[in-house]
Amino acid sequence: MSNVRERWSSELGLVAGAIGSAVGLGNIWLFPMLVGQNGGAAFLIPYFIFTFSFVWTGLVIEFNTGRIAQQGPAGAYEELGMPFGKYIGLIPGFRPLVVLIFYASIAGWTLRYIGAPANEQFWAEPGAFFGTVNSGLQSAVFAVLALAIIGSIVYFGIEKGIEPATKLMIGLLFILLVLLGIRSVLLPGSLEGLRFYLVPDFSKLTTRVVLNAMAQAFFTASLAGAPMIVYGSYLSEKADTVSAAITTTFGNATIALLSGFAIFPAALAVGVEPNASGPGLLFISLPAIAQQLPGSTLIVTGFFLAAALAAISTGLSILEVPVDSLKYHFGLPRKVVTPILVLIVAVVAIPTAMSSELFDTLTTIVLYTGPLAALLAPLGLFWAYDGRQALEQINEGPGTELGDWFFYWGKYIYPAGILAAYAWDVLG
Ligand code: TRP
Repeated sequence: MSNVRERWSSELGLVAGAIGSAVGLGNIWLFPMLVGQNGGAAFLIPYFIFTFSFVWTGLVIEFNTGRIAQQGPAGAYEELGMPFGKYIGLIPGFRPLVVLIFYASIAGWTLRYIGAPANEQFWAEPGAFFGTVNSGLQSAVFAVLALAIIGSIVYFGIEKGIEPATKLMIGLLFILLVLLGIRSVLLPGSLEGLRFYLVPDFSKLTTRVVLNAMAQAFFTASLAGAPMIVYGSYLSEKADTVSAAITTTFGNATIALLSGFAIFPAALAVGVEPNASGPGLLFISLPAIAQQLPGSTLIVTGFFLAAALAAISTGLSILEVPVDSLKYHFGLPRKVVTPILVLIVAVVAIPTAMSSELFDTLTTIVLYTGPLAALLAPLGLFWAYDGRQALEQINEGPGTELGDWFFYWGKYIYPAGILAAYAWDVLG
């Protein structure tokens, strides 16, 4: 099989791709929702512990799984010599299709919300307005629209062409989140929300909260044995994957943290219940934050435009994985596989977008299986391949070198830690 892979022109390409994948609805939609449902600030403690320990190291492992194998997840395990690697690769190679099914719904809502400020009900009854958007036919139409946009970009193979637009939009998202955060904190009655977000109530810190925090930390970094391996496979030998992983991790966590500052003070100030609002939290809170700002319509529109673009750039990285997998398994070109994959996803995404129960079920499945899917990369690199050799190759790049500890980390502690979080919850 011909094996000429696309290449990043530089390490900056990797960072831009990785941040484009990582920064998405996981940061601005799912993060506040999970903080709200998992006891507020108590959730942040395990979330940051996982981010500082597992996430950046996990990204180093995934980037290098792709880089050393020179394959996306479908082919990496076979290439690294894992028994049954060819079949095992099917799981991370196609799991992103399931992620895309539920992702399409939320991406669709953000597209719909670009025009929301024109609607009286958005400002007057944000909860009721969200109810008209998040299920039924309207939700399905916008999910399909989101899929169509993502599919066309992948079809034409121009993901890297839209990189400048993605960068611009992530910059815009950052600026708007800072602005909305300041506004939110300055609202009368913001203190309760700040307390909820920042002062931990340790009695809320259950094993389930820890597991949710791990799942979210992995999800938001796209750390699930999939896109980050594809991105790593576009690298040649000389790349500082360690600093790329660190930049991605902290850039990504910053956006999530900011969206919490925007949402919680305003939500509690106007009586939006963070725990009960579920998937609506972001969408229902926003009018309360923007209402009294000058140019509120423009700000809300700009925010959802930026959010939609962040969602689309993430969607690209998700769809790119099964496209790469089908190329690997059948040697089929992207122009053939992309429409087929989009059609398959749409068939399931339509009922998912219409039914809140189906949507919730899929969200849960995606969230809880993520860290398990992320187990494969360390098994491939440190067990099937050769951990010492892998560490040497990680350190080949310029810049940051990892010490011997990383061998033990990648081989034992990282995979055992993931399993321990599940076991602790099941047994605890
Ligand atoms: N990180 C993305 C977000 O926060 C979600 C995501 C992208 C993802 N690619 C993934 C999650 C692959 C799991 C697997 O929105």
